[in-house]
Amino acid sequence: MVKKCLFPAAGYGTRFLPATKATPKEMLPILTKPLIQYGVEEALGAGIKTMAIITGRGKRAIEDHFDISYELEHQIQNTGKEPLLAEIRALISQCTFSYTRQVEMKGLGHAILTGETLIGQEPFAVLLADDLCTNSEDNVLSQLIKIYNTYQCSVVAIEEIPFEETHKYGVISGKIIDGNDDIYRVSDMVEKPQPKDAPSTMAIIGRYILTPDIFDILKDTKPGKGGEIQITDALKKQAKKGKVIAYKFKGKRFDCGSVDGFVEATNYFYKQTHKEQK
Ligand code: UTP
Repeated sequence: MVKKCLFPAAGYGTRFLPATKATPKEMLPILTKPLIQYGVEEALGAGIKTMAIITGRGKRAIEDHFDISYELEHQIQNTGKEPLLAEIRALISQCTFSYTRQVEMKGLGHAILTGETLIGQEPFAVLLADDLCTNSEDNVLSQLIKIYNTYQCSVVAIEEIPFEETHKYGVISGKIIDGNDDIYRVSDMVEKPQPKDAPSTMAIIGRYILTPDIFDILKDTKPGKGGEIQITDALKKQAKKGKVIAYKFKGKRFDCGSVDGFVEATNYFYKQTHKEQK
């Protein structure tokens, strides 16, 4: 059973400076909702109620967001504005949130290792809130959990990307299994390869199910690309034992860590809500 979701949210978000100088990237809104709230809603939609968030300096707004603001609640009580807080209130009442700080930003792998104390020895989901995913049926995390329940090993969500963009992602190589061309047994993975060195154009996006042995592997993983401890390097060790499945998820993903993706997501969600309201 996957019961906990880890949200690494300690990165500096330099691509959004100066907006992210004093505001966490995860709090930037798509329409009226911050990115991390979409992430928590996805986890809850996948049946997960325990949210473990890795924060860092300057990220306190995330904790405040998932708490009650008595003064504000009091101010808007019995006014037409009360429904505006209904969604976040419902979320807070259904989930528990725990936090730990990554003291030095040594990469995504290091951020995940920092979460060991919140997760313990059980399989867990990882959701990068700046990858905003949407699907009309099962959400992406639910899809990954189904795959995990079948194969009982780590699972990464993948997407076909343009050849010239491989340097932005972890890229996998693997073989289709069980005659389903959306499911691969991963044999290798490379972090941010140049197109000429990329083993494929199948890129890992910000959704994972990890087995807890990943923590011990991360403890032994040396800094890799960019001097950071890379989750890709740790996963590669599991992959060598045949213990990583890559799944081509159904749905749409927006890279909201980049300005282009952020604008695209904003337009998409605006059109969606506009359509619903008509
Ligand atoms: P990114 O590579 O997007 O880095 O991290 P970033 O710092 O957030 O953004 P830029 O590139 O400077 O604009 C991918 C995910 O890993 C988390 C980030 O918060 C983001 O969700 N992360 C990264 C950490 O939690 N800690 C780290 O040390 C690095």
